[in-house]
Amino acid sequence: LITEVRLRRILDSRGNPTVEADVSTESGGFGRGAAPSGASTGEYEAIELPAEEAIANARELAVPRLEGQVYAGDQRSVDYVLREADGTDDFSEIGANSAVAISMAAAKAGADMLGAPLYQHLGGAFRGNQFPTPLGNVIGGAEHAADATDIQEFLAAPVGAPSVADAVFANAAVHGAARDILAERGEAAAKGDEGAWAPSIDDAEAFDVMAEAVSQVAEEVGFEIRFGLDVAATELYEDGTYVYSDTERTPDEQVDYIADLVEQYDLVYVEDPLDENDYEGFAALTEKVGASGHPGEDCLVCGDDLFVTNVERLEEGIEEGAANSILVKPNQIGTLSEAFDAIELAREHGYDAVVSHRSGETEDTTIAHLAVATAAPFIKTGAVGGERTAKLNELIRIEENA
Ligand code: PGA
Ligand code: ZN
Repeated sequence: LITEVRLRRILDSRGNPTVEADVSTESGGFGRGAAPSGASTGEYEAIELPAEEAIANARELAVPRLEGQVYAGDQRSVDYVLREADGTDDFSEIGANSAVAISMAAAKAGADMLGAPLYQHLGGAFRGNQFPTPLGNVIGGAEHAADATDIQEFLAAPVGAPSVADAVFANAAVHGAARDILAERGEAAAKGDEGAWAPSIDDAEAFDVMAEAVSQVAEEVGFEIRFGLDVAATELYEDGTYVYSDTERTPDEQVDYIADLVEQYDLVYVEDPLDENDYEGFAALTEKVGASGHPGEDCLVCGDDLFVTNVERLEEGIEEGAANSILVKPNQIGTLSEAFDAIELAREHGYDAVVSHRSGETEDTTIAHLAVATAAPFIKTGAVGGERTAKLNELIRIEENA
């Protein structure tokens, strides 16, 4: 039984306050979870409140319904109580930041009581033995850095790595190679919010640098490394057109542009290539690049802002054939149970579920466990930087012990 839920303000990686929750149980179990925070958030995400407000409201409305009343190991009940206590569809009362911190802390307390690692508690005995390939953010811009690329993220994908550890080090190597290639080209590169290089170059040059960095490192390590993108196209979309630094594209042109990029660079992954309301465009692109029905041959077309980890949004997408994968960010929906629901629905319909961090992060490692527990094909959690390596290093430990 949960005996205490403590909430506090802690720092996130951008230096902003975020919510941390500690859950303690009668039998001595303990779990801690912290909410991440997005910068290029989707319109349909659950609401993040200012940390102080989220904490005050959760203390008043949710904590009394949890303490002494719910078992930490009973994740569905914990998350149901959070929903009931909040009473809205979008967690605008207690904040999705308080909700997700408590939800994750309860899961960890549940695992602690069992003496089991979190992934085992979340995934049980039937998860199989697949480990996620980390997608490493190497070059980026848009909402994550000023005066850099239009495309938000260029992501290394070490699909041929024999282990998670090899993949993690390969991504770091691609990140390092990209820095050196940029330096050779005279491009000073600061880092964006997720630790990706944020040089003042256009997308075309970023593709060049990325392709070179990936092939250099692939040669060194001796396994296949491809790459992918998070276009975060909602941020480019204005009054019916995609506005790039040097050009504009109509929705049809955007579909063709992305399909050409997939072809030209053999991209393995494209996230949010179109606006978050354009199910039709997503369907058209998926038809072009992701619809052979043979897993492993296609490009993953992934909905982040499109689906926002929301079962109803995903149902709509499935009906229209929009995308073939969903990005899963627990704080977009507010609870682990609902993140699991989205993953399950995706699975049933042949969509891959990719687990992801946010641009604002903490040392919390829940998503590493979630990705392993659900046998996600990919996890997006950056390449370097402490709040990113917290997850990557946890994956290395999990693989060693699993
Ligand atoms: P965000 O960006 O966390 O700032 O929303 C990450 C993403 O778009 O995937
Ligand atoms: Zn995204």
